[in-house]
Amino acid sequence: MGRVLACRRDELPSGRVKYVQVNGNDVLLANVDGKYYAVSDICNHAGANLHEGRISGRHITCPWHRAVWDVTTGELVQFPVKLKPLKVYKVSVDGDAVYVEV
Ligand code: FES
Repeated sequence: MGRVLACRRDELPSGRVKYVQVNGNDVLLANVDGKYYAVSDICNHAGANLHEGRISGRHITCPWHRAVWDVTTGELVQFPVKLKPLKVYKVSVDGDAVYVEV
């Protein structure tokens, strides 16, 4: 499908997350120390929207039952039960524009 413009860099400062919809996919875009990452916004436990959770470094905590995910890899970091990793999307930056590949 190719890359889709997700946001401008100044819309997503370091340490923040942003919800974007990319070709019908719910995507969590994160800026971790100036680098951009994109994973599925939908928690693999029970479907919460992860962008409503709390980001700390590379870790986002789900707002519903507190699963902790690594936004740079999609891997589960902490939860009582094992969950599948989040889908990871490739991100590219071109000038002031942040793109997500789907
Ligand atoms: S929905 Fe995310 S931890 Fe339950």
